[in-house]
Amino acid sequence: MKNFTDNNRAVVRVPGTSANCGPGFDCLGVATTIYNYLDLTLLRSNKFVVDSSGEGADKIPRGKRNLTWQAVHRLLQEVGREDEFKGAIIRTKNNVPLSRGLGSSSTAIVAGLTAANEILGSPLDKNGLLKLATEIEGHPDNVAPAIFGGFTVSIMNQGEVQTFSFMPRIKLKLIVTVPDFELSTRLARKVLPKNVSMKDAIFNISRASMLVAALVKGNEKLLPFAFDDALHQPYRKKLVPGMTEVFDAAKSAGALGAAISGAGSCLIAFTTAQSHLEEKIASAMVAAFKAHDVKSKALILNVDGRGAQILKR
Ligand code: HSE
Repeated sequence: MKNFTDNNRAVVRVPGTSANCGPGFDCLGVATTIYNYLDLTLLRSNKFVVDSSGEGADKIPRGKRNLTWQAVHRLLQEVGREDEFKGAIIRTKNNVPLSRGLGSSSTAIVAGLTAANEILGSPLDKNGLLKLATEIEGHPDNVAPAIFGGFTVSIMNQGEVQTFSFMPRIKLKLIVTVPDFELSTRLARKVLPKNVSMKDAIFNISRASMLVAALVKGNEKLLPFAFDDALHQPYRKKLVPGMTEVFDAAKSAGALGAAISGAGSCLIAFTTAQSHLEEKIASAMVAAFKAHDVKSKALILNVDGRGAQILKR
């Protein structure tokens, strides 16, 4: 990336994330080894430049509606320095597909907050950044793993967010199939019911608890069924043609489980690194999508253990 002489500059890398992981709706998330990059310079003048390359570059707002700027501005407000920095140069290089359920909006928010915080001398710690990121994003399940890395469990309590992050003791491979259509989170949330049955709530609580216990303890025998969900995927099925068949294909090829990645449209399957089944699972998922006339590509990823990183200051 271009070198600026301005020392109000930081370069950061933020991982794409997969939220829900099946049963952990709005609660569980995992950081993955696909990254977006931000080169931020804060300016005292009004000059404002947004320059994006990579995934979805033509769709990223160039003006102050830009999500990274919104996050930078929110942080400047939080620390009382919004009058000092009126402009910015925002250069991004994105690898995370846009509007596909891999946390692209979270990367924009977390990158803006992390870079601006670094430039200002780190007035906020990671929990402070999480609070602002959750406020901007509306829920913590993508921003938490983007900040902390690993697998995260997050709860909201009276507007306050609390996160536990850990590296699973099972070496997971994540197989993400990226279909050639976008899905807006707003639409994917609109199809959900306002209330759910006690039976479905118990179904999810038991599986989400089993999933976290199995990953913390390193017991992969407990994982089959632990990725299943009754609270959101049955309702979102109609938005992702072939969803059930892609899940079945992944499991028949040896996956431990499969789920919608975040609010979709990507579907994600989980296997262990030792199984060496990831290529087979990826091909099976792409073929099952194709049988429903959906073109897709597969990404084979690991769990990112580091979260947002400062690359240059
Ligand atoms: N938990 C959210 C959802 C993730 O499923 O709607 C969206 O980013």
